Amino acid sequence: MITDIIRTDARGVVANLGRLLDPLSGSTLMMTGAAGFLGGFFLDVLAAFNERHPDRPVRVVAVDNFMVGPARRLAHLDGEAWVTRVDGDVSRPMAGDVVPDWIIHLASIASPIVYRANPLSVIAANVQGTWNMLELARKGAKGMLAFSSSEVYGDPAIVPTPESYNGNVSFTGPRACYDESKRLAETLCATYYRLHRTPVKVVRPFNVYGPGQRLDDGRIIPDLLRAALAGGPLVLYSDGRATRSFCYVADFVEACLMLLMMPEADGEAFNVGNGDEVSIADAARAMAESAGDPPLAVECRQSADSAFLVDNPQRRCPDLGKLVRLTGFQARVPLREGLARSLESYREMRARESGRQAVSA
Ligand SMILES: NC(=O)c1ccc[n+]([C@@H]2O[C@H](COP(=O)([O-])OP(=O)(O)OC[C@H]3O[C@@H](n4cnc5c(N)ncnc54)[C@H](O)[C@@H]3O)[C@@H](O)[C@H]2O)c1
Repeated sequence: MITDIIRTDARGVVANLGRLLDPLSGSTLMMTGAAGFLGGFFLDVLAAFNERHPDRPVRVVAVDNFMVGPARRLAHLDGEAWVTRVDGDVSRPMAGDVVPDWIIHLASIASPIVYRANPLSVIAANVQGTWNMLELARKGAKGMLAFSSSEVYGDPAIVPTPESYNGNVSFTGPRACYDESKRLAETLCATYYRLHRTPVKVVRPFNVYGPGQRLDDGRIIPDLLRAALAGGPLVLYSDGRATRSFCYVADFVEACLMLLMMPEADGEAFNVGNGDEVSIADAARAMAESAGDPPLAVECRQSADSAFLVDNPQRRCPDLGKLVRLTGFQARVPLREGLARSLESYREMRARESGRQAVSA
């Protein structure tokens, strides 16, 4: 489902990028993980692009196995001739003979709750899925984005963390299925570039949040949003001292599309995010203040899940120098504004849902 906030943000991304996206016009783009949080937003940006290019739209093959992303995230695009929806698993060979010009490979299981319950599925999506997409890209794509994670750094000894840091990662702990398979996926990307000059660019996202994320996703901002929408309290299952750098989804997608269009980024990995490092407790307080006056209560509790905090990194902050030098990217949306926009988007969605229920009752 789309909201006015998402539509406005998506149109803003296209306006900010100006003519940089012109090569997409009339081409074919395959997007995996299309029903997920980031995939849904990318698709809405491409819809905004096509509003400006009705005669030569970008055609999108939107692939998802709907294991995490709900089909209803794409429902507003039903009937759009430029989108072909494919219910498929990226870890299996792709059916059909589409050779895309562009690939945005997002399919994975990013929620720690879901990947810890499905460790082999996340390894298959990250490793075999990326391998399959690289084979496809090798047939003549102009650009491919492969989505890795800041989790490839584990609990880093260097913060802000540059791309050159090799990581401090447990390869057998409960998060290893995700972290290590992302690392192997990056090895595959670097190898395809070295062997075949496949034009793949690796993105390492740092805690992206915003409208369209599933509220039961298990990541910290959706947890806080869900609690805020329910009127609080905002519960932290830690002491709140660990830090993260939260990037609003529109900023993130804008930076990624710049990278997709730049051949200079081929074969390279980039941190993408917002350089402001905040503690989880401060993020919770910002949410509590955005959601209510007086602010909602924030509480620290212990999780019933003993593995909840195992290998949980204490600090996360990207060194964005490499990205900025190449693209000039600067995040535009501060945390408080992004949280307020997210809350407004969810309230809009709930109001529409309850309006529909009232009509059908
Ligand atoms: N959002 C973030 O902050 C963040 C941070 C680090 C990395 N990432 C990476 O970015 C990408 C997208 O993240 P997201 O937040 O949109 O995640 P998400 O979980 O919301 O979306 C991922 C989508 O991939 C689909 N999927 C999973 N396995 C699949 C398979 N085998 N075949 C086809 N589809 C499959 C899921 O159904 C889901 O719709 C992922 O690769 C994730 O690891 C995201």
